[in-house]
Amino acid sequence: MNKRKLRDGIYWLGAIDWERRLFDSLIPLPDGTTYNAYLVEGTEKVALFDTVDPSKTEVLLGQLADVPRLDYVIAHHAEQDHSGSLGSVLEKFPQAKVVCTPRAKEMLIDLLALPEDVFLTVGDGEELALGGRMLRFLHTPWVHWPETMVTYLAEDHILFSCDFFGSHLASSDLWVVDDCRVEESAKRYFAEIMAPFRPQIEKNLEKIKDLEIEVIAPSHGQVYGRPRFILNLYKDWVTGPPKNLVLLPYVSMHHSTRKMVDRLATALADQGVRVELFDLAVTDIGKMAMVLLDAATIVIGTPTILVGPHPLAAYAAVLANALRPKARLLGIIGSYGWGGKAVETLASLTPNLKVEVLEPVLCKGLPRESDLKRLDELAALIARKHQELGLF
Ligand code: FEO
Repeated sequence: MNKRKLRDGIYWLGAIDWERRLFDSLIPLPDGTTYNAYLVEGTEKVALFDTVDPSKTEVLLGQLADVPRLDYVIAHHAEQDHSGSLGSVLEKFPQAKVVCTPRAKEMLIDLLALPEDVFLTVGDGEELALGGRMLRFLHTPWVHWPETMVTYLAEDHILFSCDFFGSHLASSDLWVVDDCRVEESAKRYFAEIMAPFRPQIEKNLEKIKDLEIEVIAPSHGQVYGRPRFILNLYKDWVTGPPKNLVLLPYVSMHHSTRKMVDRLATALADQGVRVELFDLAVTDIGKMAMVLLDAATIVIGTPTILVGPHPLAAYAAVLANALRPKARLLGIIGSYGWGGKAVETLASLTPNLKVEVLEPVLCKGLPRESDLKRLDELAALIARKHQELGLF
């Protein structure tokens, strides 16, 4: 993709990664992603905002081929999908300084072995003049690493936000045109990596709330020409209450647990509680993380194997624990052959969950009618508690 103009003297650079399907060897990217960099020209100085993933360095260098001079590279975030081409950019522009937070400097030295003398660190609120354009740096830690910052360009009312407000969505559109599609990708991204840091992100939203922002230019996905759209979504994801929704991740080996899951899901729906099922043997964990972001209740369905929960159920519990969801209730259901410690093990894997743990519903072998009735009672209890929480 060629360099593309946002405004006079402000250009999108970067790469569209149509094929990438996994991030951090963990997070599914069903729609690929982009690594956005931006070139901002003043009358005296020129700055590049972030770089691209190392796999796309040649794309960025091609876009910079006719750029005669670069004074600054603004490094909002040290993670390699944005910083990974810094070394190559500095080789081409050896006079350029890397502008970042003090914490980012440490991390970029650790991660990329860059020399100390290439850095210019900036404090929170510090400004840097390009000539006719002033960059204001705002420290916004924990989006989703500790060193992150954003840049506000007051003359153009643009916020360059890096991961903040980003979405993993490969598209030839420079600007957001399909709100629904972008909402799905941005929510997935938030749920996968930012959800655990909601208190810090709330502070960051507060920090930018009085800025006059016409455009948000993130480093993944499309540019927001109507920033209120994504700002409102973030407000809900960060501070909104959980929804009248049960997340029901499960795994079943011989269909007993599956029968229990089906009965509970049916009973919940009959009680007016929304439920989303995820078969952990085949599920997309990003999709599950999105539901986890909203759910007031998590119920894990697992058989007992090797004396404990199925390893896939343990994986879901570890993920939920790491993402620190808003959920208020936790249930465990499942079948066992002759005994075991599935419940105790799952409870030990979820110390971060601030939840009321409901009485587990376990059965020996196939669920009998009495077991299924206990699931109906569990559904009624969840519905009653959701009502008490004011969720419906
Ligand atoms: Fe897009 Fe945290 O890197």
